[in-house]
Amino acid sequence: MAAPQLKRIDVCLSPELIDLYPLNDRTVVVIDILRATSCMTTALANGVAEIVPVADLDACRAMRSDSCCTAGERNGEKLDGFDLGNSPFEYMNPDLKGKRIAFTTTNGTLAISKSLNAAEIIIGSFLNLDAVVRYLKAGTRDIIAVCAGWKGKVNLEDTLFAGALVHELAGIAEPECDAPLMALHLYRQAKDDLAGFLSNSSHVQRLKRLHIEKDIAFCLERGKYEVVPVVRAGVIVRA
Ligand code: MLT
Repeated sequence: MAAPQLKRIDVCLSPELIDLYPLNDRTVVVIDILRATSCMTTALANGVAEIVPVADLDACRAMRSDSCCTAGERNGEKLDGFDLGNSPFEYMNPDLKGKRIAFTTTNGTLAISKSLNAAEIIIGSFLNLDAVVRYLKAGTRDIIAVCAGWKGKVNLEDTLFAGALVHELAGIAEPECDAPLMALHLYRQAKDDLAGFLSNSSHVQRLKRLHIEKDIAFCLERGKYEVVPVVRAGVIVRA
């Protein structure tokens, strides 16, 4: 009997590189560990009905209505006139159950908007790593992990999560070039102490300056939620 064919997995280390990747027949996993995709995961796991990712701040602000809250940040800080910021703890509020949220962030929502040509987009974070891995194993498409990074630059935490995917999918999906191999080596080096490994990273330092250490620790918790957020017709809902 022929061995089952391996899927392929690639890693786009920054949205600036996205034009190098064929998205149209792929499952894209968008990653913004600190903190956009961790917030989205937390929100859907806690009963938020749908999240509309919006790259442009003014377009997001204009979506505020009785049936839609606005949420997001720029440079890590909550936006004036918005209902919610970008801390996962805000999305545990039972009042948000069943709600629709328009969401804009510095990098995460931009990475989603740049991935819209993909066959399928899902949202990954350490909080739902195990559920995402199961979803990818069950799927038939090749995979691209798209790291949101920081304003076009590569960052450590999103690369580590991409490496975690490559690690968990060993034997199921083979690395397509050096970026998934780099991410894998990094993850294997860091996996027993993610927080320690990230302690000097630029966004961890930025969030510490804003006194939001507890968000960092939470976003690095693994497998807390079973939810897999998917983008359907531009809106993030539970798979
Ligand atoms: C982003 O999208 O750049 C982030 O989630 C920034 C943040 O930590 O708020």
